[in-house]
Amino acid sequence: MKEQLEQIKRNAFAALEAASTPAALEELRVRLLGKKGELTAVLKQMGKLSAEERPVMGQLANSVRAAIEEELEIRKAAVSAAVLEAKLEAEAVDVTIPGQAIALGHQHPMNMVLQQIKDIFVGMGYTVVDGPEVELASYNFTRLNIEEGHPSRDRSDTFYFDDNDQVLLRTQTSPMQIRFMETHKPPLCMLAPGRVFRKDEADATHSPMFHQIEGLVVAEGITMGDLKGALVKIMKAIYGQEAVMRFRPHHFPFTEPSCEMDMQCHKCHGTGEVDGQVCSTCHGEGWIELLGAGMVHPKVLENCGIDPEKYSGFAFGMGLERMAMGRLRINDLRLIFDNDVRFLNQF
Ligand code: DAH
Repeated sequence: MKEQLEQIKRNAFAALEAASTPAALEELRVRLLGKKGELTAVLKQMGKLSAEERPVMGQLANSVRAAIEEELEIRKAAVSAAVLEAKLEAEAVDVTIPGQAIALGHQHPMNMVLQQIKDIFVGMGYTVVDGPEVELASYNFTRLNIEEGHPSRDRSDTFYFDDNDQVLLRTQTSPMQIRFMETHKPPLCMLAPGRVFRKDEADATHSPMFHQIEGLVVAEGITMGDLKGALVKIMKAIYGQEAVMRFRPHHFPFTEPSCEMDMQCHKCHGTGEVDGQVCSTCHGEGWIELLGAGMVHPKVLENCGIDPEKYSGFAFGMGLERMAMGRLRINDLRLIFDNDVRFLNQF
């Protein structure tokens, strides 16, 4: 019987060692210690023993039972610790694995240039204003001294909404001059960027919609020298101090005198040639046209209730796309509007 008990203990320990789940351990507990278990079966034979043997075997059986119970508790603790460990491992988050980067967009290159231009003008005291894209012919043309029958009013150039050619998509930002002078008294300094519309086919340098930036300064004693000084300063701030500018006489109905400002081509430095070939940036001109400008026509001041004997002013209008193309070295206007991310990502 002693042998039997020793055998039960050895087998029990081996089985407990092999059990790796709480369920397996519970099954073992029933098999080893339960009422129908192996140990109980042995104890039932105690009656057959002699009086001397009985207490000795009883003690041995109890110690075997205690040893198995103890080992069972140890194994239970070990198995539940292992189960917990495995669970933690399976659910672990490795915070060192690189995350999935969220692609952040950025400003459109044209808006970047617009923002830079606005910053420069705001620094010089200009007020930035916005105006309607659907405009009246009186603001877009008449009060700017562009008379009936002027070619720029032609239906082939302008998008009209009505049969009487009174309401249109503004063809220039210059009507903002009128709107601003109507509501502000001199001295005044304003900048009006915005969309303009013309019946143009889209090509490398034309689009039926593009952006202009209008500027207007009216005060006592403003001269052409102020115009030159302000525009050269602004262009150098945008294109760099080494940029070279020139002014050419021109004609606009709403300014007198009028001029255009050009910048010396940054690629051929005014020669019109690069390595014996016609310069592709200025098409051999040596100069790139930047804007139209002039001294505000006395009639335009009068049309806004400002006394031209007392006040004078200058105005200018530049193409934003042209500025951005020069600044960012973009060679096709359509790229600015296509919004192809392969293009936009380059800025
Ligand atoms: N509005 C003119 C255009 O679209 C540009 C311009 C020229 C604006 C001279 C002005 C100016 O304010 O003084 O071609």
